[in-house]
Amino acid sequence: MITKGDTHTHNIAIDGPAGAGKSTIAKKIAARLEFIYVDTGAMYRAMALYFLKKQIEPSDQAKIEAACKEVEITIAYKDGEQIVILNGENVNGFLRTEEVGNMASATSVYPFVRLKLVELQQELAKKENVVMDGRDIGTCVLPNADLKIFLTASTQERAERRWKELKAKGIEADLNEIEKDIKERDHRDTTRTFAPLKQAEDAIYLDSSDLTIDEVVDKIMEYYNKIKNKKVGKA
Ligand code: DC
Repeated sequence: MITKGDTHTHNIAIDGPAGAGKSTIAKKIAARLEFIYVDTGAMYRAMALYFLKKQIEPSDQAKIEAACKEVEITIAYKDGEQIVILNGENVNGFLRTEEVGNMASATSVYPFVRLKLVELQQELAKKENVVMDGRDIGTCVLPNADLKIFLTASTQERAERRWKELKAKGIEADLNEIEKDIKERDHRDTTRTFAPLKQAEDAIYLDSSDLTIDEVVDKIMEYYNKIKNKKVGKA
């Protein structure tokens, strides 16, 4: 909520690897603070969905660059949920598959893919108070965020969480395969040249391996309240 007298928006950046719980946590923090939750991964996924529909290989840089020019992504909010609109169509229902996630990881290495989305993300944060999650929010998208969190968990824990999530949806999956996939994704996201996943110097490192969702949310709220109180001159 913007308080009287505020001249700028408030931003919280949450970065971290796949499966660390960023979106669950970010959504809860946004609800508590009445901020807008911005899921940047969903934007990379929407781009990836377009490339998959066009049957473009992730290694085909020229075709990906050309396809980028045909893509228009906008964001809307319905009942507090972020809706990604790809060329006029709500694509939310198609974004959360492993195929789309892997394509997003592979194609988010290209600067021309990133620049387009970073601009959209920065515009959103200028207009609204946001909790934004992704890989490069604290380092590139919102370098002046009020609070930056680097949220992680062990690969084993992240794989188990993903496995349970799939199981709950009735999808049988191999835990070792999931862990292998997560390691590959981590490797790609952290070693790409342009805006790799890394902890911003001023970000707080938070390992959620042994914490419940509520414990993580409470910790982040504590950090945020401390910062807010400091800014208004309280102890
Ligand atoms: O958070 P996610 O799993 O929905 O993200 C999918 C991929 O998109 C991720 O593997 C890397 C890319 N991504 C990115 O490069 N930068 C972001 N800010 C968010 C996601």
